[in-house]
Amino acid sequence: MSQLTYQERRGKIETYFDRTAVQAWARLTSDAPVGRVRASVRAGRDRMRNTLLSWLPEDLGGARLLDAGCGTGALAVEAARRGAQVVAIDLSPTLVDLARERQPAALQSGESRGSIDFRAGDMLDPALGHFDFVVGMDSLIHYRTDDAVRVLASLAQRTGTALLFTYAPSNPALVAFRAVGRLFPSGNRAPWIEPVAGRSLHRLIAAEPILASWQPGRTERIASGFYTSQALELVKR
Ligand SMILES: C[S@@+](CC[C@H](N)C(=O)[O-])C[C@H]1O[C@@H](n2cnc3c(N)ncnc32)[C@H](O)[C@@H]1O
Repeated sequence: MSQLTYQERRGKIETYFDRTAVQAWARLTSDAPVGRVRASVRAGRDRMRNTLLSWLPEDLGGARLLDAGCGTGALAVEAARRGAQVVAIDLSPTLVDLARERQPAALQSGESRGSIDFRAGDMLDPALGHFDFVVGMDSLIHYRTDDAVRVLASLAQRTGTALLFTYAPSNPALVAFRAVGRLFPSGNRAPWIEPVAGRSLHRLIAAEPILASWQPGRTERIASGFYTSQALELVKR
Protein backbone atom coordinates (compact mmCIF):
# COMPACT_ATOMS: atom_id res chain seq x y z
CA MET A 1 0.00 0.00 0.00
CA SER A 2 2.77 2.44 0.90
CA GLN A 3 4.35 2.02 -2.59
CA LEU A 4 1.29 3.44 -4.36
CA THR A 5 1.72 6.60 -6.41
CA TYR A 6 -0.20 9.75 -5.46
CA GLN A 7 -2.80 9.04 -8.20
CA GLU A 8 -3.28 5.41 -7.14
CA ARG A 9 -3.63 6.43 -3.51
CA ARG A 10 -6.06 9.19 -4.44
CA GLY A 11 -8.22 6.66 -6.32
CA LYS A 12 -8.41 4.42 -3.26
CA ILE A 13 -9.23 7.36 -1.00
CA GLU A 14 -12.03 8.40 -3.34
CA THR A 15 -13.52 4.88 -3.42
CA TYR A 16 -13.28 4.65 0.35
CA PHE A 17 -14.88 8.01 1.16
CA ASP A 18 -17.39 7.93 -1.71
CA ARG A 19 -18.58 4.33 -1.24
CA THR A 20 -17.09 2.08 1.43
CA ALA A 21 -17.25 4.43 4.40
CA VAL A 22 -19.70 7.07 3.26
CA GLN A 23 -22.51 6.06 5.67
CA ALA A 24 -20.16 5.72 8.63
CA TRP A 25 -18.55 9.04 7.81
CA ALA A 26 -21.91 10.77 7.44
CA ARG A 27 -22.92 9.49 10.88
CA LEU A 28 -19.61 10.27 12.57
CA THR A 29 -19.83 13.86 11.35
CA SER A 30 -23.47 14.30 12.43
CA ASP A 31 -25.06 14.70 15.87
CA ALA A 32 -26.48 11.17 15.74
CA PRO A 33 -25.59 8.98 18.72
CA VAL A 34 -22.49 6.82 18.26
CA GLY A 35 -20.70 4.28 20.43
CA ARG A 36 -17.99 5.14 22.95
CA VAL A 37 -15.06 4.65 20.57
CA ARG A 38 -16.51 6.76 17.78
CA ALA A 39 -17.62 9.35 20.34
CA SER A 40 -13.95 9.75 21.35
CA VAL A 41 -13.02 10.21 17.68
CA ARG A 42 -15.80 12.76 17.22
CA ALA A 43 -14.67 14.69 20.31
CA GLY A 44 -11.06 14.68 19.12
CA ARG A 45 -12.08 15.86 15.67
CA ASP A 46 -14.17 18.67 17.18
CA ARG A 47 -11.12 19.80 19.16
CA MET A 48 -8.93 19.60 16.07
CA ARG A 49 -11.37 21.66 14.00
CA ASN A 50 -11.55 24.28 16.76
CA THR A 51 -7.75 24.38 17.00
CA LEU A 52 -7.36 24.97 13.26
CA LEU A 53 -10.12 27.59 13.30
CA SER A 54 -8.44 29.33 16.26
CA TRP A 55 -5.28 29.77 14.13
CA LEU A 56 -7.26 31.73 11.52
CA PRO A 57 -8.14 35.41 11.95
CA GLU A 58 -11.42 35.90 13.83
CA ASP A 59 -12.69 38.08 11.00
CA LEU A 60 -12.22 36.33 7.66
CA GLY A 61 -14.18 38.95 5.72
CA GLY A 62 -12.73 39.27 2.23
CA ALA A 63 -10.41 36.29 2.63
CA ARG A 64 -10.42 33.36 0.22
CA LEU A 65 -10.04 30.01 1.97
CA LEU A 66 -9.69 26.51 0.53
CA ASP A 67 -11.09 23.69 2.66
CA ALA A 68 -8.93 21.01 1.06
CA GLY A 69 -10.65 17.64 1.51
CA CYS A 70 -13.75 19.19 3.08
CA GLY A 71 -15.65 15.96 3.81
CA THR A 72 -19.08 16.93 5.12
CA GLY A 73 -18.07 20.57 5.36
CA ALA A 74 -18.06 21.51 9.07
CA LEU A 75 -14.88 23.58 8.88
CA ALA A 76 -16.01 25.32 5.69
CA VAL A 77 -19.25 26.38 7.41
CA GLU A 78 -17.42 27.94 10.36
CA ALA A 79 -14.99 29.77 8.08
CA ALA A 80 -17.87 31.11 5.97
CA ARG A 81 -19.69 32.21 9.14
CA ARG A 82 -16.65 34.36 9.87
CA GLY A 83 -16.95 35.94 6.46
CA ALA A 84 -14.61 33.87 4.29
CA GLN A 85 -15.24 33.13 0.63
CA VAL A 86 -14.69 29.39 0.92
CA VAL A 87 -13.99 26.85 -1.79
CA ALA A 88 -14.72 23.45 -0.25
CA ILE A 89 -13.47 20.55 -2.32
CA ASP A 90 -13.43 16.81 -1.80
CA LEU A 91 -12.71 13.74 -3.93
CA SER A 92 -16.04 12.24 -2.85
CA PRO A 93 -19.03 13.71 -4.73
CA THR A 94 -21.34 12.01 -2.22
CA LEU A 95 -19.73 13.77 0.75
CA VAL A 96 -19.76 17.07 -1.15
CA ASP A 97 -23.51 16.66 -1.81
CA LEU A 98 -24.03 15.96 1.89
CA ALA A 99 -21.95 19.00 2.84
CA ARG A 100 -24.04 21.15 0.50
CA GLU A 101 -27.26 19.84 2.08
CA ARG A 102 -25.94 20.40 5.58
CA GLN A 103 -24.88 24.00 5.14
CA PRO A 104 -27.02 26.42 7.15
CA ALA A 105 -29.90 28.17 5.39
CA ALA A 106 -28.25 31.60 5.72
CA LEU A 107 -25.30 30.39 3.66
CA GLN A 108 -27.50 28.70 1.08
CA SER A 109 -29.64 31.79 0.58
CA GLY A 110 -26.65 34.10 0.29
CA GLU A 111 -27.74 36.20 3.32
CA SER A 112 -24.53 35.41 5.13
CA ARG A 113 -21.38 37.55 4.69
CA GLY A 114 -19.31 34.53 3.71
CA SER A 115 -20.02 31.90 1.09
CA ILE A 116 -19.12 28.33 0.20
CA ASP A 117 -18.47 27.10 -3.31
CA PHE A 118 -18.67 23.28 -3.05
CA ARG A 119 -16.70 21.25 -5.58
CA ALA A 120 -16.05 17.58 -6.18
CA GLY A 121 -12.50 16.98 -7.35
CA ASP A 122 -8.83 17.14 -6.47
CA MET A 123 -7.62 19.82 -4.09
CA LEU A 124 -4.60 20.28 -6.39
CA ASP A 125 -6.68 21.48 -9.33
CA PRO A 126 -5.04 24.80 -10.31
CA ALA A 127 -8.37 25.98 -11.73
CA LEU A 128 -9.52 26.57 -8.14
CA GLY A 129 -7.42 29.72 -8.17
CA HIS A 130 -5.52 31.47 -5.38
CA PHE A 131 -6.27 31.56 -1.68
CA ASP A 132 -5.24 33.48 1.43
CA PHE A 133 -5.60 30.37 3.59
CA VAL A 134 -5.66 26.66 2.86
CA VAL A 135 -6.82 24.21 5.53
CA GLY A 136 -6.54 20.44 5.15
CA MET A 137 -7.94 18.76 8.23
CA ASP A 138 -7.06 15.06 8.24
CA SER A 139 -7.07 15.04 4.45
CA LEU A 140 -3.34 14.32 3.93
CA ILE A 141 -3.18 11.50 6.49
CA HIS A 142 -3.49 8.78 3.83
CA TYR A 143 -0.53 9.98 1.77
CA ARG A 144 3.14 9.09 2.24
CA THR A 145 5.18 11.87 3.83
CA ASP A 146 6.98 12.71 0.56
CA ASP A 147 3.68 12.87 -1.34
CA ALA A 148 2.10 14.99 1.43
CA VAL A 149 5.01 17.47 1.18
CA ARG A 150 4.60 17.61 -2.62
CA VAL A 151 0.89 18.34 -2.08
CA LEU A 152 1.79 21.12 0.37
CA ALA A 153 4.29 22.57 -2.10
CA SER A 154 1.70 22.55 -4.86
CA LEU A 155 -0.89 24.23 -2.62
CA ALA A 156 1.68 26.76 -1.38
CA GLN A 157 2.08 28.07 -4.92
CA ARG A 158 -1.54 29.19 -4.77
CA THR A 159 -1.61 30.41 -1.16
CA GLY A 160 -0.84 33.89 0.13
CA THR A 161 -0.76 33.67 3.93
CA ALA A 162 -0.95 30.29 5.68
CA LEU A 163 -1.39 26.59 5.06
CA LEU A 164 -2.87 24.62 7.96
CA PHE A 165 -2.91 20.83 7.84
CA THR A 166 -2.77 17.76 10.03
CA TYR A 167 -0.79 14.54 9.99
CA ALA A 168 -0.89 11.28 11.89
CA PRO A 169 2.15 11.44 14.19
CA SER A 170 4.15 8.25 14.24
CA ASN A 171 4.36 7.37 17.89
CA PRO A 172 2.72 4.69 20.02
CA ALA A 173 -0.53 6.63 19.92
CA LEU A 174 -0.70 5.82 16.22
CA VAL A 175 -1.63 2.30 17.13
CA ALA A 176 -4.82 3.76 18.56
CA PHE A 177 -5.24 6.14 15.62
CA ARG A 178 -4.91 3.27 13.14
CA ALA A 179 -7.76 1.53 14.89
CA VAL A 180 -10.00 4.29 13.52
CA GLY A 181 -9.63 2.70 10.08
CA ARG A 182 -10.95 -0.54 11.47
CA LEU A 183 -14.08 1.14 12.78
CA PHE A 184 -15.36 1.42 9.27
CA PRO A 185 -16.66 -1.39 7.05
CA SER A 186 -14.26 -3.43 4.92
CA GLY A 187 -11.26 -2.31 6.91
CA ASN A 188 -8.91 -4.06 4.52
CA ARG A 189 -10.10 -1.83 1.69
CA ALA A 190 -9.62 1.32 3.77
CA PRO A 191 -6.77 3.54 2.63
CA TRP A 192 -4.12 3.06 5.26
CA ILE A 193 -3.25 6.00 7.47
CA GLU A 194 0.42 6.83 6.96
CA PRO A 195 2.38 7.50 10.12
CA VAL A 196 4.48 10.64 9.78
CA ALA A 197 7.60 11.25 11.85
CA GLY A 198 7.58 14.93 12.76
CA ARG A 199 11.34 15.23 12.24
CA SER A 200 11.33 13.83 8.70
CA LEU A 201 8.28 15.93 7.82
CA HIS A 202 10.15 19.07 8.93
CA ARG A 203 13.29 17.93 7.08
CA LEU A 204 11.36 17.35 3.83
CA ILE A 205 9.59 20.70 4.17
CA ALA A 206 12.93 22.47 4.71
CA ALA A 207 14.44 20.68 1.68
CA GLU A 208 11.57 21.50 -0.71
CA PRO A 209 12.64 24.49 -2.85
CA ILE A 210 9.04 25.57 -3.49
CA LEU A 211 8.55 25.90 0.28
CA ALA A 212 11.70 28.01 0.76
CA SER A 213 9.60 31.07 1.59
CA TRP A 214 7.42 29.16 4.07
CA GLN A 215 8.18 28.38 7.69
CA PRO A 216 6.55 26.05 10.20
CA GLY A 217 4.62 27.90 12.90
CA ARG A 218 2.25 26.61 15.55
CA THR A 219 1.79 22.90 16.06
CA GLU A 220 -0.56 21.00 18.32
CA ARG A 221 -1.28 17.35 18.89
CA ILE A 222 -4.83 16.34 19.72
CA ALA A 223 -5.27 12.95 21.37
CA SER A 224 -8.75 11.82 22.30
CA GLY A 225 -9.35 8.12 22.80
CA PHE A 226 -9.00 6.51 19.38
CA TYR A 227 -8.11 9.76 17.65
CA THR A 228 -4.63 11.25 17.50
CA SER A 229 -3.70 13.85 14.96
CA GLN A 230 -1.20 16.68 14.84
CA ALA A 231 -1.86 20.11 13.38
CA LEU A 232 0.91 22.16 11.84
CA GLU A 233 0.81 25.58 10.26
CA LEU A 234 3.09 26.75 7.47
CA VAL A 235 3.32 30.52 7.26
CA LYS A 236 4.60 32.54 4.35
CA ARG A 237 7.63 34.60 5.41
C1 LIG B 1 -10.53 11.99 7.02
S1 LIG B 1 -11.52 12.87 5.88
C2 LIG B 1 -11.60 14.50 6.63
C3 LIG B 1 -12.68 15.37 6.05
C4 LIG B 1 -12.78 16.76 6.64
N1 LIG B 1 -11.59 17.55 6.40
C5 LIG B 1 -13.06 16.67 8.11
O1 LIG B 1 -12.13 16.87 8.90
O2 LIG B 1 -14.20 16.34 8.46
C6 LIG B 1 -10.37 13.14 4.54
C7 LIG B 1 -11.03 13.70 3.31
O3 LIG B 1 -10.02 14.16 2.43
C8 LIG B 1 -10.45 13.92 1.11
N2 LIG B 1 -9.28 13.95 0.21
C9 LIG B 1 -8.17 13.20 0.28
N3 LIG B 1 -7.33 13.51 -0.73
C10 LIG B 1 -7.92 14.49 -1.44
C11 LIG B 1 -7.56 15.22 -2.61
N4 LIG B 1 -6.41 15.00 -3.24
N5 LIG B 1 -8.41 16.16 -3.07
C12 LIG B 1 -9.60 16.39 -2.44
N6 LIG B 1 -10.00 15.72 -1.34
C13 LIG B 1 -9.18 14.77 -0.83
C14 LIG B 1 -11.14 12.57 1.20
O4 LIG B 1 -12.00 12.33 0.12
C15 LIG B 1 -11.85 12.67 2.55
O5 LIG B 1 -13.18 13.12 2.43
